[in-house]
Amino acid sequence: MPSPDNSQGLDLPVPDEAAIAHSTRLVNAIVECIEQSGGVIGFDEYMHMALYEPGLGYYSASLPKFGAQGDFVTAPEISGLFGYCLARQVSDLIVQGCAADVLEFGAGSGKLCAQILESLPALASYRILDLSADLRQRQQRSLRARLSAELFHKIEWLDRLPREFDGIVLANEVLDAMPVHILSRQDDWVELGVGYRAQRFAWLPFEAEAATLEAMRRIEMRRMERGLGALPRDYSSELNLNYRPWLAALAQSCRRAVVLIIDYGYEQAQYYHAERRRGTLTCYYQHRAHADPFVYPGLQDITAFVDFDACADAAEASGFDITGLIEQGQFLLANGLLDEAQRCAGDSEPMAQLAISQQVAKLSLPQEMGEKFKVLALQKNLELEMPALQRGRAYG
Ligand SMILES: C[S@@+](CC[C@H](N)C(=O)[O-])C[C@H]1O[C@@H](n2cnc3c(N)ncnc32)[C@H](O)[C@@H]1O
Repeated sequence: MPSPDNSQGLDLPVPDEAAIAHSTRLVNAIVECIEQSGGVIGFDEYMHMALYEPGLGYYSASLPKFGAQGDFVTAPEISGLFGYCLARQVSDLIVQGCAADVLEFGAGSGKLCAQILESLPALASYRILDLSADLRQRQQRSLRARLSAELFHKIEWLDRLPREFDGIVLANEVLDAMPVHILSRQDDWVELGVGYRAQRFAWLPFEAEAATLEAMRRIEMRRMERGLGALPRDYSSELNLNYRPWLAALAQSCRRAVVLIIDYGYEQAQYYHAERRRGTLTCYYQHRAHADPFVYPGLQDITAFVDFDACADAAEASGFDITGLIEQGQFLLANGLLDEAQRCAGDSEPMAQLAISQQVAKLSLPQEMGEKFKVLALQKNLELEMPALQRGRAYG
């Protein structure tokens, strides 16, 4: 009988019986896939099933996920200030001539959508595209309860990208939830896959496609050209090959648009830093972070940091112009974080004011989310000014 309990040594809370049974069903499905594939699958396929297997994957099933009852908190869950600042940026783009329509990828609990619609009631429409059918239902329930009927009716849930989109595209913490390949530096690069041995998932060598190895060699070559040296033997890290198809499809859909990708991540020199020998893969189970993706499949989130240089390259190759890359803290401050905090605090009780100061700190301080999270801004067929990006990396 396959077992989901791979948690030895991690000191994680123990799931209840129903959760274990759920995870066991997903383990069975992954083991079956491994067997059908001759004993090993790529880690990207494992991660895809662990997160998105219909009815069973972490994002597809009806677990709490976000907030105190879930496994992690994202910026819109921490504070409305995040959405209010983004709304200021959206409003500034609209004033300059961008269409007043928003398309949000992966809307989570729906909080960012509510924050933006409440700040900008004159938006023409707000569309949501999420891979998770369960989250979509939850977004519908919570947004119907929170918003006026007039605002709620501006929201449309999409099954696929619109054919021609004009407006502003938002993706907060979406790219970190895209499946990655894992590569290890031996004499050359090799890919690591997932097998099942002695009732446990295990890392096994996996026959990589030529394009996967080539992409990793190019990254190392670029490091060497910058004088950063080759990566050490036994070094392993992630490689995300989803940016390109995702951005290519988005570019095809966008006619005149601005795209804001917000996530934790690095530029390539930091991402593939010689001292980060085990990559950036991080799993979250009930607010404990660890690095073992084989623990409780379906019950924990699995993520990898975003390689913003790879993302910018993919965007450019797809026909977007790169407006810039900036740390989240700077982006929010430039979009009125302190004014919004003052507005929200108003003449509220000291405890409420303290909570707002703590939210400002969490969102913007370098040692909190301020530096680790970044904003990559792209434009298609527009040349709008974005002063909030001015102090960041320009590209091009
Ligand atoms: C970490 S959650 C972030 C949720 C939300 N944006 C927030 O900040 O709270 C990742 C979300 O991205 C969605 N997702 C991942 N890949 C996606 C894709 N290619 N298209 C649309 N949604 C995607 C997941 O279903 C999930 O809702």
